[in-house]
Amino acid sequence: MAERRVGVIINGATGRMGTTQHLANLAAIAAEGGLVLRDGDRLIPEPVLVGRDAGKLRALAEAHGRLRWTTSLDEALAGPAAIFMDCANTAGRPERVRRAIAAGKHIHIEKPTAPTVEEAMALARAAQRAGLRHGVIQDKLFLPGFAKLLMTREAGFFGRILSIRIDAGSWIFDGTTRPGQRPSWNYRKDDGGGLALDMMAHWRYMVDRLAAPITGVCALMATAIPERVDEQGRRYRVDVEDTSHALLRLENGGVGVITNSWATRIRRDDTMVVQIDGTDGSAVAGRYRCFTQTAGETPDAFFGGGQRATMDFAAQWREVADTQPVGNPFRRCWEAFLRHVAEDAPYVPDLVEGAKAVQLADLAYRSVAEGRWMAVPALRL
Ligand SMILES: NC(=O)c1ccc[n+]([C@@H]2O[C@H](COP(=O)([O-])OP(=O)(O)OC[C@H]3O[C@@H](n4cnc5c(N)ncnc54)[C@H](O)[C@@H]3O)[C@@H](O)[C@H]2O)c1
Repeated sequence: MAERRVGVIINGATGRMGTTQHLANLAAIAAEGGLVLRDGDRLIPEPVLVGRDAGKLRALAEAHGRLRWTTSLDEALAGPAAIFMDCANTAGRPERVRRAIAAGKHIHIEKPTAPTVEEAMALARAAQRAGLRHGVIQDKLFLPGFAKLLMTREAGFFGRILSIRIDAGSWIFDGTTRPGQRPSWNYRKDDGGGLALDMMAHWRYMVDRLAAPITGVCALMATAIPERVDEQGRRYRVDVEDTSHALLRLENGGVGVITNSWATRIRRDDTMVVQIDGTDGSAVAGRYRCFTQTAGETPDAFFGGGQRATMDFAAQWREVADTQPVGNPFRRCWEAFLRHVAEDAPYVPDLVEGAKAVQLADLAYRSVAEGRWMAVPALRL
């Protein structure tokens, strides 16, 4: 059983995702002796940290046992690492990915893959033409609650799926009384900000796989908090939406509804809640838990006007048991991608999937600008 090593450039290593997800999970795989491949070999990822702040990079590299680091992306791309992860902020990602493709690196990047669908598809085609492996992070279906929802669907629980409803978001402080919990670039267009661009990336693959492929979108968006205070205490104008409502047409004739806001308060089970209604049953999942109600368990809950409900509706749902091993979702993404590179295993979320996510955001923005429904055409390499 041999040890094989694979270099992974993490561009944006000192950012939130770079440190807490990508570096942390690759380091965990390495610390456990590597990923055991089909042939018994062990694949050990070797991160190369890239960012703009030498002090922060040095400290992070030291904390993980003297990893290689550099402030020059070109220097990292000229080195032997085989994989390029871009988890720096969204703006500028296409240009960085093009450089990595030119350097012959396999591409595994954060969402959204590009600001527009044209750029996202251009990246997918360039990586494919170059014969490189390519993928985007799609972590949410590995969260235990949504994994159980997917398992429920795949078991045929719902019958005909009628609708999917996503209710997501929380209150993000504006930085005056309490610091904002999201980076300020999320609220600036030129830096790749915007809630729809950020979050439609998740809703696209979740709706496509949990309910049915999306064929149409009609959206309304708003900027609830137009002025905020950034990490340095400076006031700035918000020039993107922080609230997005979307109605979706599904290929199976069903309907999707997405209510997503960074200016809403939570009175539901989790920050992200997905409900699917079908002819045979319904299910509701948050990030960790999933509940179902069959047709036979459905209450007669149509009360005459003015009468109080006499039932505890929440108590009428049955929790789906934990039957699958639970792992860190980003680690699951990395393990699948490493297998894709090392042993040709399939990797579903390639850069076309990444472009589909950007496409939904793109069309939602166009729907708002033009005040109409937008068809969602198929994307192909
Ligand atoms: N998959 C998910 O669930 C998920 C969740 C959050 C964020 N993201 C994505 O991850 C990316 C990073 O988000 P974050 O929340 O970690 O942001 P962040 O602001 O914490 O990190 C971004 C990092 O990139 C650095 N950076 C900015 N411009 C750069 C440049 N030109 N070159 C190199 N480095 C640069 C910043 O200094 C920072 O260290 C975004 O694309 C975001 O959409 C994905």
